[in-house]
Amino acid sequence: MAERNILVTGSSGLIGSEVVAYFGREGWSVHGVDNNQRAVFFGAQGDTRRIQNRLLATVPRFTHHELDVRDRPRLLDLVAEIRPQAIVHAAAQPSHDRAAAIPFDDFDTNAVGTLNLLEAARRACPESPFIHMSTNKVYGDRPNTIKLKELETRWDYDDPAFENGIDEHFPIDQSKHSLFGASKVAGDVMVQEYGRYFGMPTCCLRGGCLTGPNHAGVELHGFLSYLVKCNLNGREYKVFGYKGKQVRDNIHSYDVARFMSCFVEAPRIAEVYNLGGGKDNTCSILEAFALVEKYSGRKQLHTYVNEPRVGDHICYYSDLRKMWGHYPNWGISISLDQIVREIVEGDGPQFS
Ligand SMILES: NC(=O)c1ccc[n+]([C@@H]2O[C@H](COP(=O)([O-])OP(=O)(O)OC[C@H]3O[C@@H](n4cnc5c(N)ncnc54)[C@H](O)[C@@H]3O)[C@@H](O)[C@H]2O)c1
Repeated sequence: MAERNILVTGSSGLIGSEVVAYFGREGWSVHGVDNNQRAVFFGAQGDTRRIQNRLLATVPRFTHHELDVRDRPRLLDLVAEIRPQAIVHAAAQPSHDRAAAIPFDDFDTNAVGTLNLLEAARRACPESPFIHMSTNKVYGDRPNTIKLKELETRWDYDDPAFENGIDEHFPIDQSKHSLFGASKVAGDVMVQEYGRYFGMPTCCLRGGCLTGPNHAGVELHGFLSYLVKCNLNGREYKVFGYKGKQVRDNIHSYDVARFMSCFVEAPRIAEVYNLGGGKDNTCSILEAFALVEKYSGRKQLHTYVNEPRVGDHICYYSDLRKMWGHYPNWGISISLDQIVREIVEGDGPQFS
């Protein structure tokens, strides 16, 4: 078979870098787009150059393009030149909390950048699967209206309708999103529209907590990676509200890349999936402390701030049944325990 090529934006980030490595191993020629904007958003701790250099050294058919997805003319030219057979869009301002301080950068990146890439794809390669990294923050804080029960170390749903988690029919509007959630809604709906209106094979992956050793974790984004960093460096982790019992479902970036590969091989039109670790890969912050301590052997220092983050979910886990139904060969292959062990044993988590 002739060599296939894929375009990955945000290629130096957690998800982008995993996708580059995954498709590279599968024999694809991979074009990455990243401008290390994460270091601009979060400072030196968010710097992704080390990951970019590792990809250049280890992925044989990888080309890095130093390009901002907000640069419409250059992005249109690049996609026209490459005409990729698949596109994964993972470049973003990814922080819920950071967005309010940088509203233009946030919206221009998350909403307009996504439109730039969609239109570039429609003009050059409308038949190529287009996978967009969306987020569970498109549901705003409405998940907090689900009846909850308080257990010893976590919150959980107290409503049988959500026994398996939150599915893709959950409403996305008329709740508080943060500016980040709102800019991601704009991108998400636009990706769906290019699918429905133009018949393009698009999908939105509404991520829960996506994680892994390649995350340049910072306080405002990448909770597990940042928590491990704090633990290994003897720093205090700040817990914001909900008694530290707030629940997240965690998925390793490798399982995200595996799902993307399934979609690329059997694409559908205008799909939406809630992509997280599901119920089996959930933990509260308190439970995450215990897990990290188990693998690092160090006590987790922490302080408690009796004020939740604005719009933070008290309990969120994804209902994975739609993904399993559409792609029966896909499932979670890396457990939460393995994820934490890998992050603890990884070479990344140092403060600069
Ligand atoms: N990590 C999570 O827990 C999580 C959860 C839900 C959704 N998501 C979504 O998944 C996607 C990827 O997240 P991630 O965790 O890999 O983030 P990340 O910050 O690790 O990676 C994003 C990459 O995009 C690059 N980038 C940012 N703005 C850019 C621009 N204007 N032009 C070019 N490159 C730019 C950054 O430099 C970075 O390398 C994002 O859309 C994010 O919203 C992530």
